[in-house]
Amino acid sequence: MSSTGSTPSNTGSTTAIIVSVVVFVVIPLIVIAVKLGAVLCIGKHFSKTLTKVAAVTEPFNDDARFIPLAMVKFLDDMEREKPILFTSHQLTLATANFSIALGSGAFGTVYKGIFSNGVAAAVKVLNGTSDKRIEEQFMAEVSTIGRTHHFNLVRLYGFCFESSLRALVYEFMVNGSLDHHLFKVDRRASIGFEKLQEIALGTARGIAYLHEECPQRIVHYDIKPGNILLDANFCAKVADFGLAKLFNRDNTHITMTGGRGTPGYAAPELWMPQPVTHKCDVYSFGMLLFEIIGRRRNMDPTLGDSLQWFPLWAWNLYEKKELNVLMIYCGIEKKDQEVVERMLKVALCCVQYRPETRPVMSIVVKMLEGALEVPDPLNPFSHLVSGVGESGDTVTRIAWNAVSSGWSSSDVVSNSTVATGTPIMRKYEITVASA
Ligand SMILES: Nc1ncnc2c1ncn2[C@@H]1O[C@H](COP(=O)(O)OP(=O)(O)O)[C@@H](O)[C@H]1O
Ligand SMILES: [Mg+2]
Repeated sequence: MSSTGSTPSNTGSTTAIIVSVVVFVVIPLIVIAVKLGAVLCIGKHFSKTLTKVAAVTEPFNDDARFIPLAMVKFLDDMEREKPILFTSHQLTLATANFSIALGSGAFGTVYKGIFSNGVAAAVKVLNGTSDKRIEEQFMAEVSTIGRTHHFNLVRLYGFCFESSLRALVYEFMVNGSLDHHLFKVDRRASIGFEKLQEIALGTARGIAYLHEECPQRIVHYDIKPGNILLDANFCAKVADFGLAKLFNRDNTHITMTGGRGTPGYAAPELWMPQPVTHKCDVYSFGMLLFEIIGRRRNMDPTLGDSLQWFPLWAWNLYEKKELNVLMIYCGIEKKDQEVVERMLKVALCCVQYRPETRPVMSIVVKMLEGALEVPDPLNPFSHLVSGVGESGDTVTRIAWNAVSSGWSSSDVVSNSTVATGTPIMRKYEITVASA
């Protein structure tokens, strides 16, 4: 029996002490250490994020104490895809005092802007002055437009409604509008036929969404190459939807110099005392399709008589089954014959004189995709010689319109809870860009 030997009771108490030390000292110490580490890590990451946020926010607010919150909110709003209310100060900073003009149209001039978080934007400064009386209507429309999302629609980030500045802020499209590419003098430098076909299809999908899929039907009224914008991959995005509605509410303060639609693209019913429906966009899309096929403006007074108006010339060739003449003129390769024939037939169907004989856009999409056969179009220009024909189009009419029958036109502008802003803004889910 050695003094160093341990009795069973000794061994038991030693084990008990070790277990107690592990349970009550070591484990809590490990837990504290882990927690400390985590806190340090998060703190480091958080301070990095705040620095980043503060760095990108500088143009938005001069008061550094509010910067991080404002920027987080801005990014959050963009993510949640709700329209943002910008101040004129913010837009002046983002556009470097409206120094880079991208172009101008009936509603105003468009400027390039870059927010310091790197987000590029196109700021459309609207003609006329702001009038508080129409503020709510303006916000209601902007709210609807701002929450209309589709891959083939240009996104509206937000707007500004101040007495000195009324503007709409859109996502920036690097490749500009389709007209700049279609009507280039040097055809070799323009977009290839395959890409143009994709652009036509994308545009059709965007319009179909506006007409048949979004909660509140939006008739564009101004489909034309200038309103088809191209992103970095030359994907088509329809711009300026909802604007006609926005401005028809009150014409006394904003003047639409061009009236409704653009000559050459506007459907006949737009300038005649006839009811106007979404079918006016189908007509304009048809005219756009002719320009995509021809890579020229439909009307060119500098050309000889028969070629001056491309759609009529194209119809005559189609009727005489001389598509090859058109293909040579348009520089379209033989391998694309089937596609161009389909596109031409769709264009001819879309520009029918009577709205009810034009297809709805979802049918146009299917025909362009090749998923649906295109029926032989009637002469869309017969009214030019013999008045409006009553040619047996009933079957076509039924087929064209069946798809959209389930659509409901009820207004959908839901109420919501937003922490900041006026009651009107809360009503239309508009949030402010900075604190
Ligand atoms: N979101 C945008 N991104 C890039 N360029 C744009 C954007 N919106 C408009 N533009 C450019 O500004 C020009 C003017 O636009 P707009 O005022 O809508 O007139 P229009 O539609 O009659 O051409 C367009 O042709 C286009 O080149
Ligand atoms: Mg436009």
